[in-house]
Amino acid sequence: MPYIRESIITTVDKAGRVHIAPIGIIAKDDGWIIAPFRPSATLDNLSQVPFAVANYTDDARIFAGCLTGRKDWPTVPLDGFAVPRLEATLAHSVLEVVSIDDDAVRPRHFCRVVAEETHAPFTGFNRAKAAVLELAILVSRLGMLPPEKIDAEIAYLTIAIDKTAGPHEQEAWDWLMERVTDHLANAAAPGTEVRP
Ligand SMILES: Cc1cc2nc3c(=O)[nH]c(=O)nc-3n(C[C@H](O)[C@H](O)[C@H](O)COP(=O)(O)O)c2cc1C
Repeated sequence: MPYIRESIITTVDKAGRVHIAPIGIIAKDDGWIIAPFRPSATLDNLSQVPFAVANYTDDARIFAGCLTGRKDWPTVPLDGFAVPRLEATLAHSVLEVVSIDDDAVRPRHFCRVVAEETHAPFTGFNRAKAAVLELAILVSRLGMLPPEKIDAEIAYLTIAIDKTAGPHEQEAWDWLMERVTDHLANAAAPGTEVRP
């Protein structure tokens, strides 16, 4: 299995409008693959401006926020690049798309690393942040999972939240749980979510 780094990808369209999305970038040789599912704003933006910034942040609220309609996270311009970084990132890589494996479902964009910078120290692992990340992935796949599987995953992840969350992790968890609760309440209406 390839190594995957869960990051927040910033991209821009031709007009310079910024888009933010959680994307797992896939290690390949000295670079990274960005593989957005069709349709997506990240994919559209990469076809217009073939650069992205991979933001490495430990703020779980940004992952949860992007999946729950809270996409307005502050960004900071980068000298010499069209795409900004997140303000709340510990480090970032500027990625340039060098080739594309086109695909009807999930085109793979091979990127080289053009620049990298660190902004703040990594301050250690936290189980609640990891639990939020797992719940964010679960929320992006709600339509594909049976309710029993969703309940079982949440029961397990809740342990880490109850034992180790700070206020930010709790807030991020609550945003995502609102989505889960809505989904389970409407579970009788199939086909509302197709993201694998
Ligand atoms: C941790 C994490 C990793 C994700 N990785 C991917 C990915 O590799 N490709 C993708 O298309 N969506 C991925 N998603 C889902 C996207 O963030 C989400 O569907 C988003 O809306 C992408 O569409 P957009 O570019 O239009 O915003 C991921 C979500 C999470 C929480």
